[in-house]
Amino acid sequence: MTKTHQRIGILTSGGDCPGLNAAIRAVVSHATLTFGWEVLGIPYATQGLLDRKAVALTVHGLDMRGIDPLLSTGGTILGSINRGPTEARADEIIEGYRALDLDALIGIGGDGSLAILSQLARKGGWNFVGIPKTIDNDVAVTERSIGFDTAVNTLVDALHKLSYTAASHDRVMVVETMGRDSGHLALHAGIAGGADVILIPEIPYTIGGVRKKLDELRDRWGHRFAIVVVAEGAKTLSGESRAYTDAQGEIRLRGIGNYIADEICRYTKNTIEARVTVLGHVQRGGTPSAFDRVLASALGKAAVDLVADERFGQVVVWKNGEVADVSIAEVCAQSPTYVDPQSCLVKTARGLGIYMGELNTTAIAPLVGSIAR
Ligand code: F6P
Repeated sequence: MTKTHQRIGILTSGGDCPGLNAAIRAVVSHATLTFGWEVLGIPYATQGLLDRKAVALTVHGLDMRGIDPLLSTGGTILGSINRGPTEARADEIIEGYRALDLDALIGIGGDGSLAILSQLARKGGWNFVGIPKTIDNDVAVTERSIGFDTAVNTLVDALHKLSYTAASHDRVMVVETMGRDSGHLALHAGIAGGADVILIPEIPYTIGGVRKKLDELRDRWGHRFAIVVVAEGAKTLSGESRAYTDAQGEIRLRGIGNYIADEICRYTKNTIEARVTVLGHVQRGGTPSAFDRVLASALGKAAVDLVADERFGQVVVWKNGEVADVSIAEVCAQSPTYVDPQSCLVKTARGLGIYMGELNTTAIAPLVGSIAR
């Protein structure tokens, strides 16, 4: 750095997830302790830039008499938004970076936020570095995004609890997961939680296929209960998902869990009881897992190193158990990523006898993004 004094900004953008605070903590610690920089926290992502608002973050300020709550708390102390007047007010947002006199900005976001922030950075000539986060785990190149591991663990915990009540009442438990158009969350949680059926957006299902699996469990194995994990964006063979348009005109996924449960009851003429659990935003809450804390710490530290080396326009990623970095353009061009129907995990699930949708389709036609994992 040519300047002796450096002031960097940090913001969190898009849906929150566990581990964001651990990443903020790592950025502040490394920037202040190693480099002696000043770190400004920008509240509510681009809204903070628009409002020219920032709070000074110090290592001392993050501590609570020697206890550091940030490592283990969910959410984000900076607040976040996953919609906003970004396009309409881009010039004002861009100007916010200068008004706050920033030398660089670190943005923690999912694929949508990283794309928006990198556009603003390009247009405004910001020195920008990105950190990937999302429980959906659909940011390209990185094998893990902050928040995913904790969300999987939350689901696995729920599946474990539900198995006991399912077994006690001979019921089918249908559990709806988040994940938007990708099935990483449902697939990982379903395998780890012992599901009998996992339905994900990338592999079309038929109700007939679900019924067949339930019949087989009962007739061949004598199982009187079952666990069905369904991703919110799961689609039938004819491409139907369950969604509605909200007041802002955005399409939102909702209702697949109830639909599947109703169909199971209808098919069995209510001789099987199906119950639905929609964990919803519980998946985004809670204390980050040990892995997410490690990941957030490593990515946060690496993002500061990129700023120190003046390597802007990059995203820090997790690859082969290590931190690496790639251009934001590369990440955005390939995001979001989808589950590869031929992946080892899908084959594992099928090998375990889990119904994962119809085999004999070429289907899976995400219109954008790339197939990964
Ligand atoms: O992208 C993260 C995510 O939690 C998705 O899994 C989910 O569909 C969406 O955000 C929910 O968004 P909101 O918080 O706006 O309801």
